[in-house]
Amino acid sequence: MIIAVDGPVAAGKGTLARALAAKLGFAYLDTGLLYRAVAALTLAAGQAPDDETATEAVARRLSPADLERDDLRQEAVGQAASKVAAQGGVRAALLDFQRRFAQEPPAGAKGAVLDGRDIGTVVCPDAEAKLFVTASPEVRAERRYRELLARGEETIYPRVLQDLKERDARDQARAVAPLKPADDAAVLDTSELDSDAALQAAMQILQARGLC
Ligand code: CDP
Repeated sequence: MIIAVDGPVAAGKGTLARALAAKLGFAYLDTGLLYRAVAALTLAAGQAPDDETATEAVARRLSPADLERDDLRQEAVGQAASKVAAQGGVRAALLDFQRRFAQEPPAGAKGAVLDGRDIGTVVCPDAEAKLFVTASPEVRAERRYRELLARGEETIYPRVLQDLKERDARDQARAVAPLKPADDAAVLDTSELDSDAALQAAMQILQARGLC
């Protein structure tokens, strides 16, 4: 069984997807980390995120160890990730890995939860369950701001809000695999929900569809 969790920046996809995977005993893949790793490696090599030849070569060579880099969660890496994520060559290079993870989850898990932007629309269009997690831009920016402060990054709320809006706009406007809910996705607005309540709401959606 495959559960697709998509949504905009800092909507709580990762927290929810990880919790669902833990509850159901499924494997979990944060696909944003793939794009973040391509961006971080490109920047570290002194190349520009809009140099498609460079980014595609990096995406083709990506290894599991690259997903462990400790700079992947930085805001600057997120912005660069959304630039490389608009490139068709990079997306194509990362597609097989994501599909294989979904279809043959590691460690014999009987299902997989993937979170990202295009899981329900492109990566796993046949996923049994699709959730589109969202929240107001202000709530999402507040969450991301607190996360960044907790990690010791120096930033200010208006900057985080502006970056988030820019990244969402780029993710929605791109020609390849733009951010949008799949036609058969259940939309879950977490503006008023904490992580436990979001998990409960997601489980109710799965139960209503007879999936667990
Ligand atoms: O955690 P956050 O919502 O900040 O972002 P993320 O999930 O780590 O994704 C970083 C960037 O990668 C996004 O802004 C997208 O541009 C891109 N991405 C994508 O295009 N497709 C995915 N399946 C996952 C991420």
